[in-house]
Amino acid sequence: MNTPGWGVAGPGRIAGRFAEAMTMVPGGRIVAVASRSIERADAYADRFGVARRYDDFGHLAADADVDIVYVATPHNRHESDTLRFLAAGKHVLVEKPIALNAAQARRMVDAARANGVFLMEAVWSRFLPAYSLLYELLGQDRIGEVRMVEADFGFRRPVEPSNRLFNAELGGGALLDLGIYPVQLCTSVLGVPERSSGFGSIGETGVDELVVGVLDHGAGRMGLIKAALRLPMPCTARISGTEGSIELPARMHCPEALTLNTPEGSETLDGRWNGDGLRFEIEHVQDCLAEGRTESAVMPLAESVDIAATLDAIRSDLGVAYPGE
Ligand SMILES: NC(=O)c1ccc[n+]([C@@H]2O[C@H](COP(=O)([O-])OP(=O)(O)OC[C@H]3O[C@@H](n4cnc5c(N)ncnc54)[C@H](OP(=O)(O)O)[C@@H]3O)[C@@H](O)[C@H]2O)c1
Repeated sequence: MNTPGWGVAGPGRIAGRFAEAMTMVPGGRIVAVASRSIERADAYADRFGVARRYDDFGHLAADADVDIVYVATPHNRHESDTLRFLAAGKHVLVEKPIALNAAQARRMVDAARANGVFLMEAVWSRFLPAYSLLYELLGQDRIGEVRMVEADFGFRRPVEPSNRLFNAELGGGALLDLGIYPVQLCTSVLGVPERSSGFGSIGETGVDELVVGVLDHGAGRMGLIKAALRLPMPCTARISGTEGSIELPARMHCPEALTLNTPEGSETLDGRWNGDGLRFEIEHVQDCLAEGRTESAVMPLAESVDIAATLDAIRSDLGVAYPGE
């Protein structure tokens, strides 16, 4: 079977990295790109050697050589862009967060299932070597019963109201952009939380700039997450069990090593890679498609909805609502 032809929707910052990553994926092919402007589509296509360029997402959806679309637009566009491509029978890899909220995420999952096509939220961390090592160690029961996941992700950015990070119209805020990585680590290790609450502060542009979330996973298992747009944080994670712990160094969403601490001592395991780390998720998606899967077992759709619901609960406590919600 031929490898899938990829279309890129929204040729911005992450879509550039995606194209760099694609050069290292066996059989990786971006066949078309769509932007709101033909100049930006042309610039991306020329830079990365993409044959077809459009200034209309409808044309990308109608392109018969596009098997799967990478949706890399701002968060507020994820639902509408994804639904358009799913309705056209395309598979979709959509950037994180899957959507602004769980209601949107559910509609996207329903549409993918109704159309019998693949959908995955692009949580690239899970496909990196260090995360594979993490799952391996947990599977081997190396730290006993896992009781606590703590993770933070934050940096200090200047306030720029037009930047999507600070723009409520585009789904800005620390929680959805950065906090999702600590939250997905909690759900990945501890499953769905029974309840979640959040505390934080809202900045002058109306989005959360600092957030602390507590996830109660039941049976004495807790998650503690932090994220910030105006405050540097260590960007590390620690998974604690009854017999030891695992530490992910900065940055916890793309660590190049991890440390296993047990009563026998500490051991640091190498998780480095070459090229852009997005390549591992692309390879995973291509493997899923080759196997005829419509969903990833590593980043399942039900979990994406659960993550969105957890983010909703925390965000509701913060008092942040996006236009139209
Ligand atoms: N996996 C990761 O590590 C990672 C890293 C960064 C971002 N992301 C995710 O990727 C998505 C895009 O992030 P980014 O940093 O690449 O964003 P970006 O560069 O600001 O925007 C991406 C593209 O979306 C289009 N766009 C921008 N503003 C828009 C608007 N108001 N309405 C419609 N389209 C608009 C633009 O394309 P045109 O102007 O050409 O139409 C732009 O190039 C976000 O959801 C983010 O969470 C993931």
